[in-house]
Parts: sequence; structure tokens; C-alpha cells
Amino acid sequence: MNQKPLFKKIDEILHGGDYNPEQWLDRPDILKEDIRLMKQAGVNVVTLGVFSWSVYEPSEGEFHFDWLESIMDNLYQNGIFIILATPSGARPAWLDEKYPEAMRVSSAGVRNHHGVRHNHCMSSPKYREKVGIMIQKLAGKFGKHPGLLLWHISNELGGECYCDLCKSRFQEFLRKKYKDNIDGLNQEWWTTFWSHRFNRFDQIEPPYSNGEGSIHGLNLDWKRFNTWNMTDYMRFEIELLRKLTPDVPVTTNFMRLYKTLDYSVMAKELDLISWDVYPEWENDYEAAVKTANGVSFDHSIMRSFKRDRPFILMESVPSLVNWHPYNKLKRPGTHKLSCVQAVACGSDMVGYFQWRKGRGSYEQFHGAVMDHLGRSDTRVFKEVEEAGNLLKKLQPVAGSIVKPQAAMIFDWNNWWAIEDMAGLSKDKKYGETCRTLYGLFIKNGIEMDVISSDADFGDYKVLVAPMLYLLKPGVADRLKEFTAKGGILIATYLTGYVNENTLCWLGGFPGDGLLELFGLYTEEIDTLYPKDTNTVSFQTEFLHGDYRAFDYCEIIKPQTARVLGEYTRDFYSGTPAVTVNAYGKGYAYYVGTRIGEDGMEALFKKIWEQAGIEAVSLPEGIEYHSRFGNGGSFEFYLNFSDKVQRLTEVKPGKNLITGETVAEVLILEPFDVAVIHSKL
Ligand code: GLA
Ligand code: ZN
Repeated sequence: MNQKPLFKKIDEILHGGDYNPEQWLDRPDILKEDIRLMKQAGVNVVTLGVFSWSVYEPSEGEFHFDWLESIMDNLYQNGIFIILATPSGARPAWLDEKYPEAMRVSSAGVRNHHGVRHNHCMSSPKYREKVGIMIQKLAGKFGKHPGLLLWHISNELGGECYCDLCKSRFQEFLRKKYKDNIDGLNQEWWTTFWSHRFNRFDQIEPPYSNGEGSIHGLNLDWKRFNTWNMTDYMRFEIELLRKLTPDVPVTTNFMRLYKTLDYSVMAKELDLISWDVYPEWENDYEAAVKTANGVSFDHSIMRSFKRDRPFILMESVPSLVNWHPYNKLKRPGTHKLSCVQAVACGSDMVGYFQWRKGRGSYEQFHGAVMDHLGRSDTRVFKEVEEAGNLLKKLQPVAGSIVKPQAAMIFDWNNWWAIEDMAGLSKDKKYGETCRTLYGLFIKNGIEMDVISSDADFGDYKVLVAPMLYLLKPGVADRLKEFTAKGGILIATYLTGYVNENTLCWLGGFPGDGLLELFGLYTEEIDTLYPKDTNTVSFQTEFLHGDYRAFDYCEIIKPQTARVLGEYTRDFYSGTPAVTVNAYGKGYAYYVGTRIGEDGMEALFKKIWEQAGIEAVSLPEGIEYHSRFGNGGSFEFYLNFSDKVQRLTEVKPGKNLITGETVAEVLILEPFDVAVIHSKL
């Protein structure tokens, strides 16, 4: 396995985060102290300039960069690299005053007032022009700075705009997509319904909150347009930077499962993926390891956008945030676990928002490495320092990659379509279902990628496609190909109901030729009330047992599929609930109902066996991951429990954290971690 560092300038795991010295320019004493403390905390990178526009350009055309120059020089001289943001995440007052078109228009068609952040019209030529000038200046002045590691485009790009500029771009987007054929659009959007036929493209409006909302095809195309427009904007920044500084890679920071933008499209434009994680650690509704498994799912989505290289965790927090419903402190030890977990899942950086708490405004009580208290003997600082030391020890991991044998399809278009669909029950729990099923793999030590339906299904042995309601063109064929070649596919209720524009497939679900793959069709789907349940009874040599079924029960008519489990109640008692169909060299499983975790785990265990994937027996509370490099593998064990854990069947090697050699048995203290370098 080729282990290649992400950056030419540094091959360590990066540790640092957002640093906003422009808020402290009148306090040289604090700026000096910052450098000393960063070194003490093992910080080797900071992100600068995320929200610096009004300091760079206090009035139109008047630029001040000297302050940044001295900060960058100083950081670099002290061994700290720089991720430099383009400041387009928030605009100065003069810009909005002079060019109101830069301000976003809400879904009710009302123009925003100046304020807050990430609220620009991505179509606005003036906004792009002003950002372009800023980028030219920044790249011209700092593009060759020896400390510059990476460009950070804007910040957490997000939202949508309903202004007239965006409306006409939407119309052009549709004209192109439907090849200038309005009848084609009417057909795909099924507009004869409620007399909604359009005569011309320029008649079509975005789905205003007080306008058209009943055409699913329109809603979906609007979401696609919004991603396209955001990507187009992002590409504008990227292309400029690539032209000016071809050697400096580019990223932007994604946010978890952010519904408004299809990250799988945006990811293609970036040199590397970065994202910001803010889980509700130590909440009152789930065990710590469950929260961790959820974070691991998010990391996996990000990692899977570029499977051949590490991603970077741009932001996290060593203590608490200020925007959760309850802003609880991270308990001692959790910070270490969360840092190592990010690396375990494929990140080569642990970054924070932010280095030092500001004195005022909205984020004054958001956690940071340095508190208003100003001392470095705090619990939080010490934990950050500990993380810094630990990440140094993980240097050999840098550049190694995660290589799962299993993948799950999580697809934004599918998510949008399921949420917009009128039917079944209100909350269809697509994301939650994916997370739960992923959690069962992780619980059994099986690493999983999380990919979009257009991604390469490659050489995975097992592919889980929960609730794949919408089939983009070609997906059904690629699922068949995957299975025919020997892959094992697991699909569920709600598979293949609609095409890419949400038109129902005729002739039976799952559509687009998938009847043949699964060897069945579904005749009806029953939605249960929250207190209703059914049972699936497995009574074959493959699997024995009765498990709870809830939420959705499909009534299945098998053709060539073999029945593995049947409903035991209601008018469809005795009919198939779970089936398998042999297809080419592989198998296509169909799970027609939502089954409890114990049932799905039992089923998966049989499937892993069949696929030759080895589950790792892990005590409850442990999360396990592995990364691969030219020197062998890195085995990560994370103890999210308050118990001493004894692990057996551990690959022998050296624990990079303690320096000890481990042979088979590993004892982990509560909330402790081990990273074992196991040579080939
Ligand atoms: C986001 C932003 C940061 C900061 C943090 C607070 O991730 O990128 O600027 O506001 O949230 O949690
Ligand atoms: Zn707009």
C-alpha cells in the first residue's frame, strides 16, 4: 500500500485550528503569548483569515495585509504552518451597502439585511468580482509564503438564495438539463397534475415558500441547481487560486450531513476533503460508544469522497460549543478519544474552533483552547497539550489510508427525494437508518465506506443500500454488475420506487430492471403507527429467530428469490419479509421491513460469513478501526467505556502511544486508546 503524505512541507499529523489574531491586534502581549502556548500545546498548523475581510479591506479598495504578514512570518519561524482562508464567508458592511445584490433573498422572496455570515447570493457578479479582487491580492502577497500549506475556500459554504439572478440561472440550468424541450420537462415533472403545465422555461420559479411546492421534480431540480450553483461559485474561487498558486492545494470545510448541498458533487472540485465535527458528546440519550459510532459514520462519509488519501478534520472543540440545546463540557478523556478517533477514521489533522475565545459577540462563550481566564494550567489546555503529544507519536500513521471491504450507499438525491415524498409517515428516518446499520458494522469491527450511488462500487465485498428510493440513471445496472461479479448486495423496503426526477417506475418496484436482481416485486407498503409492530420469523438453516419489525412492512411477491424470513402477524402473516436471490456469482438480499438492531445484526453476521469478512469480537464500549500503509497496518482501539477492557486476538505490534509491544492481549484503561503498528 502506497503511503503518501498529504503535504510536501510536513508529514506529521496536523494539530491546531482556527486562529483569529485580527481580533487581538491591540494586544501584542496576547499575540506573543499565543505563539509560546501554541508550541507548548504541540500546535503545528493554524487556519488564518476566515473572517478577516473587514480588516483586510476596511473600505472599498483600501487594503491592509501587513498585520497578516507579520503574523504568518512569526508563526512560520516558530514551526507552525498556515492554512489560509479566503475571507468570503462574511462580507464587510460597505460591500452590502454599495452592492445590495450580494445579499441573499429568502425563500419568501424577501432580500436579507446586512449581517451574520454565509448569506451571499452565489450568483451575484458583484460579489464574485469583489471576492476575485481579494483573492488576487491574497495570493499575490502570500501565495509563495513558505508557511502556506493549504487554501481554505470561504467557510462552511451553505444555504440558498431566491433572488431574480438565481431564478434566471435556475431557468437556464433547466433549459440545459431538458435540452430546451419544455414538454420533456412537463413530462418528467408530471405537471399535468393540478394543471401545472409550463409553456416556457422563463415561466418557472424556484419553490418559494409562498409559491409552488407540490411538484417533486421541481423541488429536486431546485436542490440540484443550488448544489450546482454553489459548486460553480466554489470553482470560481478554486480556479483563480489554482492559476495564481498552482502548488498550493485547496479545500473547503464541509459540515456533517448537511442536507442543503450534495457534498458528493462539491467534493470532486477539491484537492482534499476537510470537515467540522461538533457531536453531542456525553449526552443523556445514548451510550458514549453510540455517539462515537455516529461520528465515525460522518468521518466515513468524508473519507469516502477521496478514498486514496486522508481527509482532514478542520474544526472540533476541546471543551464545549455554544449552540447545542445543552452545551455540556467534554468530560476528561473524551478529547483524547475524539482526536484519536478522527485519525483512526482517516484524518491527518485534528483542528479546533478556535485557539482563543473572543471577548464579545455571538461566540464569546464557545469553547476554545485558551479561555478568557488566560491560563495554561487549565484542564482544557492540558488535555489539548496531551492530544498534541499523542498526535506527534502517531506520525507514522500520516498518509496511510483506510481500506474497507464493505460500503454503504448514502445518497443526497435520494435523501432529498425521500424527505420530499408525500406519503408513508412524516419522518422517514433515512439518515438515522443508514447510521444505525453502519453502527452494526462498526460494532463488529468491520470498517465501512459511505458512498453516493454514483460512486464506484469497486472491489467491495458487501454493499448495503438502505432505502434506495430514487434510482439515478445507470445505478440499477451497476448494482447488477456488482452482484453478478460476486458482490453481496443488501437492499431494503423502499428500493427503486422512482427515477431520477421522481417519476414512479411502472411494472413493479424495485424498478429499472431491479426485479430481476432481487427476484421479486413488492405489491404494497404498510406504514405502521409508532406503537404497532410486527415480527419477522427466520426459520431456515441460514438463520433462526424472531425479530421485531416496525415502521414499514412491504408486501413482497417473490419470483426467483428464496424466502428467509416471514411476517408473523396481521393480514400479511406468513408472507415473505426477507429474501435472497442468487444473481451471477453473487447474492442480492432484500429486507422488506424495518427490523430491530438485533435482527439486522444477526442477518449481517451470516452475510459477513458468506462474504468472507471477518468480524472482530469487541467488548461493548470499544470502537476499532484500521489504516494501512507501506509499513503494514495501524490498529486503533478506542475505549469509550468507564471499564478496564481486555481485548484478545489483537494483531501483534508496537503500541505507538505507550511504546510497548503488544502480542494478542491488550488491556485498555477506561477512556484510553491504543494504536498498534503491526508490520507486514
Ligand atoms: C462552524 C464555523 C466556525 C464556528 C463554529 C462554532 O464550524 O465554521 O466559524 O462558528 O462553527 O461551532
Ligand atoms: Zn441570488
